[in-house]
Amino acid sequence: MKSILSYPDRGKWGNAKYRGNTSGHVIKDLLEHFKPQKFVEVFSGGGTGKDVALDLGITNSVHLDLNTGWDALIDDIPTGSDFVFSHPPYWDIISYSGSMYPGEHHHDLSKNMNYEEFISKLDQVNSKIFTSLLNGGRHAFLVGDVRKKGKYYSIIKDMTWIGDCEAHLIKTQFNCVSDRKIYGNNSFIPINHEHLLVFRKNKIWEVSIKFTRTGDFNLKDFAKITWRDLIQNALESLNGQATLKEIYRVIEGCRKAQNNPHWKEKVRQTLQLHDNFSPVERGLWRLNIA
Ligand SMILES: C[S@@+](CC[C@H](N)C(=O)[O-])C[C@H]1O[C@@H](n2cnc3c(N)ncnc32)[C@H](O)[C@@H]1O
Repeated sequence: MKSILSYPDRGKWGNAKYRGNTSGHVIKDLLEHFKPQKFVEVFSGGGTGKDVALDLGITNSVHLDLNTGWDALIDDIPTGSDFVFSHPPYWDIISYSGSMYPGEHHHDLSKNMNYEEFISKLDQVNSKIFTSLLNGGRHAFLVGDVRKKGKYYSIIKDMTWIGDCEAHLIKTQFNCVSDRKIYGNNSFIPINHEHLLVFRKNKIWEVSIKFTRTGDFNLKDFAKITWRDLIQNALESLNGQATLKEIYRVIEGCRKAQNNPHWKEKVRQTLQLHDNFSPVERGLWRLNIA
């Protein structure tokens, strides 16, 4: 395998009509590459992994999904193994229970939860998968990114990484529903890839963990911002044009000004020296970026 995967034809395995199904080539390539003794598939969906396993003559594999009565949030992984492939829902992009198969299920990861809850539940499942692995075993995890209401969500960035990341492959996506849509706003870049992460369990007891902290930071509190950047922000917040007094009023509450007794001189000097700022008339300044 190489780090870019591209399978224009999804192959003969599994149910091609099962929404969000993956190409069996991914699973086949992983199994042929790692040659596990025991293969477990979590979120097996339309049966792609099972068909691939049978094709490769693997008869002891295990395939788990809500659609066959196995609930990732409640049930245990029924066996230890040296290889788990998992392909969760991409948050709520496609809804499964009640749409792809009968019955509403309140543990369906594709429904009824906000993004933070989805990530926290996915972490629960991933930790369950990881602890089921034998030492030296691997968890291959396939997921895509999500764009919703103008916001970009990177599931692989937001979830906890459990174990040592051995490989990060990018898989080209074909035949997405979004490919056939025409969007009014075409300034965004459509998502045409998925991520395949391979985590390895390299120690019996110790596990390396990596997680992302998300928060907001006010640039006014940032001591290392430059005077130019600070004044640009101040002018932008004042609709691109402002008097020196108005600029002072914005800047005086900033950490950078509090750290410098000569901050007013610094503001005047920066306005004069930098060609991003130009005087409209005496004491009135404008931001120009063209
Ligand atoms: C992206 S699909 C997997 C597609 C599969 N790889 C294929 O090729 O057909 C995600 C699957 O996660 C399952 N799922 C969602 N929540 C679940 C849960 N709590 N427990 C088990 N499976 C769940 C859905 O039923 C769905 O089949």
